[in-house]
Amino acid sequence: MTGLNPSHGSRHATILGIGSYRASRVIPNDDIVDAIDSSDEWIQQRSGIRTRRWAAPEETVQSMSVGASRKALEHAGIDASQIDGVIVATVSHMLQTPSAATAIAHELGTDRPVAFDISAACAGFCHGVALASDMIRGGSAHHVLVIGVERLSDLTNPEDRGTAFIFSDGAGAVVVGPSDEPGIGPVVWGSDGEQFDLIRQREDWRDVIVQEKPMMPHLVMQGNAVFRWAAFEMAKVAQQTLDESGIKVEDLDVFVPHQANMRIIDAMARSMKLPDHVKVARDIADQGNASAASIPLALDRMVTEGEAKSGDLALLIAFGAGLSYAAQVVKVP
Ligand SMILES: CC(C)(COP(=O)(O)OP(=O)(O)OC[C@H]1O[C@@H](n2cnc3c(N)ncnc32)[C@H](O)[C@@H]1OP(=O)(O)O)[C@@H](O)C(=O)NCCC(=O)NCCS
Repeated sequence: MTGLNPSHGSRHATILGIGSYRASRVIPNDDIVDAIDSSDEWIQQRSGIRTRRWAAPEETVQSMSVGASRKALEHAGIDASQIDGVIVATVSHMLQTPSAATAIAHELGTDRPVAFDISAACAGFCHGVALASDMIRGGSAHHVLVIGVERLSDLTNPEDRGTAFIFSDGAGAVVVGPSDEPGIGPVVWGSDGEQFDLIRQREDWRDVIVQEKPMMPHLVMQGNAVFRWAAFEMAKVAQQTLDESGIKVEDLDVFVPHQANMRIIDAMARSMKLPDHVKVARDIADQGNASAASIPLALDRMVTEGEAKSGDLALLIAFGAGLSYAAQVVKVP
């Protein structure tokens, strides 16, 4: 009797390198408050955002991804030809098909890797890291580039008081590869589709094209409900992730929650009783909420500024539309 060959993967996977690309336009609160009858003070108090990054016309989902990926490859010491998987987490690639991933893979000079996009909103990057780790350990890839990228200024209504000040543009990327020791802990992930409507595009494209004056299907959000869910439910997911990783909160060096709102970050840190030595990512203040790009942008800043050191244990936790969430403990590259 003939049998199928089994897949052979590496015993463990780890993040080998990280890079990011911040959109170039720095937009202070004062530039957007008139359209939403707000103030710099209100926005800073309620969200912690001082300025946000928006893309210039030439800064596309593809170009920002390529910029972040080149830095991640260089940091990892890996050549583009060694990449056999490209996963792009985004909700703002404006073509439903083909994926952004194949074009990004091509521009990077990779050699026909498996390449696909995933749609898990702000949680997408952590989904991608979990998939890459499983692919490497399962034997379906050796070196996977995971990119979180958004150009949410395209999907933001500048007159919507609930969202106009929050969202932003940028990209972050990591190279995930094989290793002798665990560098990516077990993922804790899930969804709550009962809350599908809390953050969503206003309508789908079929409803847009029949409008008299067609308007982009902008993102809309029930901010208060999202806030409560994120601040309370996600702290429990964070603790579960530490437990499943066999890590105590005192063992953590770095905490990188999704950069949704400074008050959510503070509430999570409080309810997890994070010790003072744990460095907390607060990239939102000058970047805004870059959805799938938020965690790699925040972690890369900490690496670049020396706040997070190679080998440090970092808890990543991402959450957003769906509602969907994913979290894991990783070793900082
Ligand atoms: C959006 C968010 C900052 C709003 O803050 P909030 O404290 O919930 O604000 P509310 O909607 O309860 O409104 C409070 C008051 O501010 C006013 N307000 C709302 N938006 C405003 C704005 N942009 N500027 C000034 N005032 C505003 C409201 O009218 C209300 O006034 P009232 O008390 O006189 O009725 C907050 O809900 C939030 O950050 N939610 C989570 C968002 C998030 O993380 N999203 C991404 C997840 S991936």
